[in-house]
Amino acid sequence: MPKKTPHQSISAISARHAELKTQIRHHDHLYHSKDKPEITDFEYDKLFAELLKLEAENQGLDRWDSPSQRVGGDAISVFKKVQHRKPMLSLGNSYSPEDILDFNDRVKKFLRFEKESTQKIEYFVELKLDGLSMELVYEKGALIRALTRGDGVVGEDVTHNIKTIKSIPLKLKTQKPPALLEVRGEVLIYKEDFVTMNEKNEEQGLPLFANPRNAAAGTVRQLDPKIAASRPLKFIAYALGEYEGISFTSQKNISEKFKDLGIPVLPDDLICLTKEVDDVVSYYHQIEKKRPKLEFDIDGIVVKVNSLALQEDLGLVARSPRWATAAKFKPTQAETVIEEIQVQVGRTGALTPVAIMAPIKVGGVTITSATLHNQDEIDRKDVRVGDSVVIQRAGDVIPEVVEVVLSKRLANSKPFKLPANCPSCGTKAVKEEEDAVLRCPNPFCKAVMVESLKHFVARRAMNVEKVGERLVDAFVTEGLVETFSDLYKLKKSQLKNLERQGEKSVENILKSLEASKKTTLARFIYALGIRFVGEQTAKLIADHFGTIDAFLDARQEELETIPEIGPKVSESILNWLKQKRSQKEVRELVKLGIEFEKPKRSSTGSLSGNSFLVTGTLPVKRDEAQAFIEQNGGKLLSGVSSKLSYLVVGDDPGSKVDKAESLGVAMISWEELQALAK
Ligand code: IVH
Repeated sequence: MPKKTPHQSISAISARHAELKTQIRHHDHLYHSKDKPEITDFEYDKLFAELLKLEAENQGLDRWDSPSQRVGGDAISVFKKVQHRKPMLSLGNSYSPEDILDFNDRVKKFLRFEKESTQKIEYFVELKLDGLSMELVYEKGALIRALTRGDGVVGEDVTHNIKTIKSIPLKLKTQKPPALLEVRGEVLIYKEDFVTMNEKNEEQGLPLFANPRNAAAGTVRQLDPKIAASRPLKFIAYALGEYEGISFTSQKNISEKFKDLGIPVLPDDLICLTKEVDDVVSYYHQIEKKRPKLEFDIDGIVVKVNSLALQEDLGLVARSPRWATAAKFKPTQAETVIEEIQVQVGRTGALTPVAIMAPIKVGGVTITSATLHNQDEIDRKDVRVGDSVVIQRAGDVIPEVVEVVLSKRLANSKPFKLPANCPSCGTKAVKEEEDAVLRCPNPFCKAVMVESLKHFVARRAMNVEKVGERLVDAFVTEGLVETFSDLYKLKKSQLKNLERQGEKSVENILKSLEASKKTTLARFIYALGIRFVGEQTAKLIADHFGTIDAFLDARQEELETIPEIGPKVSESILNWLKQKRSQKEVRELVKLGIEFEKPKRSSTGSLSGNSFLVTGTLPVKRDEAQAFIEQNGGKLLSGVSSKLSYLVVGDDPGSKVDKAESLGVAMISWEELQALAK
């Protein structure tokens, strides 16, 4: 970062200032509007800090169009733009916990507290959630709108998607709702859900999300609410917008009242209320240690003056409140050396380069490998064997190579190129159109076979409890198994010869294979590992065809009548069905005793997992509405209880509404129900 020196001319400073403005605007656009950041928050904050420093030190700079004057992010045009009643601000931040002490001094000074006085400010300290900020507008207790932050002044109306988040009440839990309440908070995807979501995308050949924040932001900006409904979005509230007919005294009081109204907030054990600024610093360190174990991503802590009266006195400066600050955690990065780049062959034949690194601890977890995705990614970062690299855990979870430390590059290193042939079977690899991935096209490739077998026995597929990945490797290496059906032909004597398999474990393996034969058609179709047929698609296929024979005879026109199956998926299924070997293998498995349970009522509809009760007069007949709920996978309950997910309310409803209100059960109209089921 160029420092200001007496020799630096004003024109050089202006040039750097202009350059920073352009760069920051570019990164704002990538982050806020495209959900595809190219630099880390840390790097962004460094650019921003340099901009602010230049502006503070140089009067003559042209700052009317500077990002310092506004909050980043353009409201993208497809959504209705709505002005926030109160602007959604941003927080001043730093990466050093010592700055919390300066913040405390600034607050005291502004409030004209004596510097050395014993008078203390009470702070409410909580987590800085790393998701997408959102404003929920409740009028007379009903959620009428949800807005993204946008540029801080004007946000995007994403109500249709936010209403699908189950933890957000559509009605506030109170008998006397305030005329207006604007709740601000963060939309998140929990780490575990994020991993599952990406696993599913991978199975279906869909692009992967870089981290939970991008996944949440990408989901909220979908036009079709069905997509949001199918994704595990969560919401946690932390601030107020405008309000009327309700009063608050402090941050703590906001959190308590939100909780009473049924709005999710952070649990008490993650919050710190203190008058000692040193406690705030130790809270920072404590949370930094806890960070890897939290269910969701955070990027620091937020320190707020607890009293709203004092907040009012403190007011704003430029884009941030004077009463709050954020202390961010430095990214969990570390440096290590790439010892080898392995090319792994996946179940779909994809050749994936994986960096094998000298073991290194990052954020409490030892990392030994990181995927390099594909050749384009390797070229972009120019990663080579022997390179020293900076690695980090993206979104706190997945290890990734951030950059090469070029100053440490070995003199004789060469750019890395993926091999032209499959490293397992030697077949020439192919690159499909629109696909950055190189694939081994040989369906009999041993590596593809091993991965397919691992998928077949997996928990969500055939669920062969006692056969894990290692055992599959051993079966194939010993030449015991080549196809799925070979698994069910394994003999006691063969298994006993395997290393470390005693009498008891051999018995257990055979028992669990036997038990796996009782399955469902959906699991079985999923287990076959047909490209683009993930769990969800397999369920739809099973529901549609009902029997394995009907599936084996499937025609293109019929496949494409199934929702979510387009030409790409149907082509892949038909190619698979066309192969004699596939048909033979399925028949062999059935002969060996694979049995299918009768399918239960649709559990795949968009309302599945939710229960409903209808009350009042709807625009359609009552039994039509109920049939609609069941057809879409919803369950009907006969009374209002805390187990009820939604009460569907028509005209002139009875006492059920009061009961639902008192239990905090969400209430929706017929139109909202239809949107939910779309
Ligand atoms: S308070 C004046 N509390 O951080 C800002 N913000 O840079 C009032 N954020 O856009 C917001 N966790 O999206 C607040 N516990 C928390 C937060 C939080 C995350 C985000 C928020 C805001 C950004 C500010």
